[in-house]
Amino acid sequence: MKWTPGELISFTAKVLYEISKGLTLDYAFQKVKRGWRELDSFKVFYDVVFDAVRHYYFLQFAASKMFGSSGAKAVAKAWFIFRADSLLYNKDMVNSVRKRLLKRALTKPDHVMAALEELREDRARYFSVKYSYHPNIVSTLLSHFPPDEVEKLLEAGNHTWIWLRINTLKADVDKALRQLEAEAEVEPHPKIPFAVLLKSAKRPVQYLEAVRRFVAVPQDLASIYAVLSLRPEPGDRIIDLAAAPGMKTSLIAQLAEGRAKIVAVDLSAKRVARMRHLLKNLGAGDFVEVVRGDSRVLKTRKFDKALLDAPCTSSGAFTKEPAVKIYPRVEEAPRYSALQKALLKNALALAEEVVYAVCSILPQEGEEVAASAGAEVEKPHPDLAPSYTPGVGGRTFPHIHRSEAFFIARLRKR
Ligand SMILES: C[S@@+](CC[C@H](N)C(=O)[O-])C[C@H]1O[C@@H](n2cnc3c(N)ncnc32)[C@H](O)[C@@H]1O
Repeated sequence: MKWTPGELISFTAKVLYEISKGLTLDYAFQKVKRGWRELDSFKVFYDVVFDAVRHYYFLQFAASKMFGSSGAKAVAKAWFIFRADSLLYNKDMVNSVRKRLLKRALTKPDHVMAALEELREDRARYFSVKYSYHPNIVSTLLSHFPPDEVEKLLEAGNHTWIWLRINTLKADVDKALRQLEAEAEVEPHPKIPFAVLLKSAKRPVQYLEAVRRFVAVPQDLASIYAVLSLRPEPGDRIIDLAAAPGMKTSLIAQLAEGRAKIVAVDLSAKRVARMRHLLKNLGAGDFVEVVRGDSRVLKTRKFDKALLDAPCTSSGAFTKEPAVKIYPRVEEAPRYSALQKALLKNALALAEEVVYAVCSILPQEGEEVAASAGAEVEKPHPDLAPSYTPGVGGRTFPHIHRSEAFFIARLRKR
């Protein structure tokens, strides 16, 4: 059944409301979809909702000017006025709905843009509204980097890059590339031979033949850098202490050419089950011993290397999950920070060398955790950008690496 513009606005408003209560975009979308009537395809709705979340703060600002409200329904209407043109094909429909909405608006779109420019004096607020990031993310960045760099980062963060890792446990790079190129245009990474950027594709990434056959795996470049920082080699004994669903573990197996002794630990039984399944599909099942356990207190034999890809706020995942731009869970950072410190302490007791990685833009989960470990901190990988604290690990950023924002450090017991 065809959807109506009014329906699209109501759906978007409902998802925005759910996200404001702390749900991720996908959860919120699925929840609202379950209660909706059957449609031919929800693809347009998903793309619209994704875009509305990505531009939420700007739309909220526009909604308060145009409709005297910053509620979800007004924000969804503002989406239609400012963004529908870039996403919906039926331009006649867009124009007529826009006209109708504008008739009831208190002000014109031009005035909204002029009001936005008036915020320039207050740089943090201006960036927060213009690029739609929670003020806390903006002020954290502004306290560490010059404004023009912050602006580039925020702008780049409103783009999604899909990186694919060629899974050399399943196929060699040339063969995998040929298979991918039959269905997609890809750009090889200039330095990482097994990483390619998906530029365009005939179908959604998960339906590409190479992906369905696990020959190519969607994996963000930041995650790839975390594993490269570990420098896995044949013969290594490696423990992955927060491993599920096993994406980085499988890359460890790949880089060690299936000749390392790898143990993958995770606390969540559900995620451990998923990891067993995924590792098998990726051709890494035979090289990894999977263990369900609490890595804060785990006692085991000594390892050469440990990866700790710690649980976190995920506030660095905004290129893929725009809900973290609205709700970066900053208030949960102290709890995560305490958990990360406990995990890192045990990691350093279990291995000679530890790579600590976290998908967070917040120093409380990155630099502060690494600096408090009482260990020697090495520069993890030459491609990484400096972190917020010179000498304490490195970071990936969307405007530099075309990736998510990770903190990565390699530590060694003093
Ligand atoms: C960021 S995710 C790991 C993603 C994984 N490394 C990958 O690349 O596929 C963090 C993981 O830490 C696990 N976790 C949380 N607390 C833990 C603990 N005390 N011990 C072990 N794992 C824990 C969570 O269940 C979650 O799977």
